[in-house]
Amino acid sequence: MFHVVYASSALQPFSKPELQALLEHARKKNAKLGLTGMLLYKDGNFMQVLEGEKEAVMKLAAIIERDPRHKGVLILLRGTSEEHLFPNWTMGFRDLADDNAAKTPGYNDFMNTPLTDGEFSRDPNRCMKLLRLFKKNM
Ligand SMILES: Cc1cc2nc3c(=O)[nH]c(=O)nc-3n(C[C@H](O)[C@H](O)[C@H](O)COP(=O)(O)O)c2cc1C
Repeated sequence: MFHVVYASSALQPFSKPELQALLEHARKKNAKLGLTGMLLYKDGNFMQVLEGEKEAVMKLAAIIERDPRHKGVLILLRGTSEEHLFPNWTMGFRDLADDNAAKTPGYNDFMNTPLTDGEFSRDPNRCMKLLRLFKKNM
């Protein structure tokens, strides 16, 4: 199973209905492509993991990178794993600005860190740790 993780910044902050529309479309398309993953959004920044068959992941990642609704796409991680890291979601989603995200055990460590912060590109384990927090607590 191949996965890629990136961070990016929205050109303009997404409203809840805009995020909902993006997700609805993404989930339908990911299901068709056999892809899974998770999208985090916080204060205008995204972090997303996409996983599945390598060619399909790379192709979609290239499409997403060209999406004019965001910029500064920075690949944080690329790799393979024995199994799906996020098997149950065509695209899990959390808005980390929501109150309940703050209650997620372990999130304290990340609360003041923008998703595009250099700490994630410097240390890919940090972004996996963040993604796993929300995998456990969806
Ligand atoms: C932050 C972000 C995440 C996205 N994630 C996905 C995704 O997981 N799957 C997907 O199909 N499209 C995703 N998109 C949308 C794609 O960029 C693109 O608009 C869409 O795949 C085009 O779908 P179409 O082939 O039906 O026109 C995302 C866009 C943004 C800005």
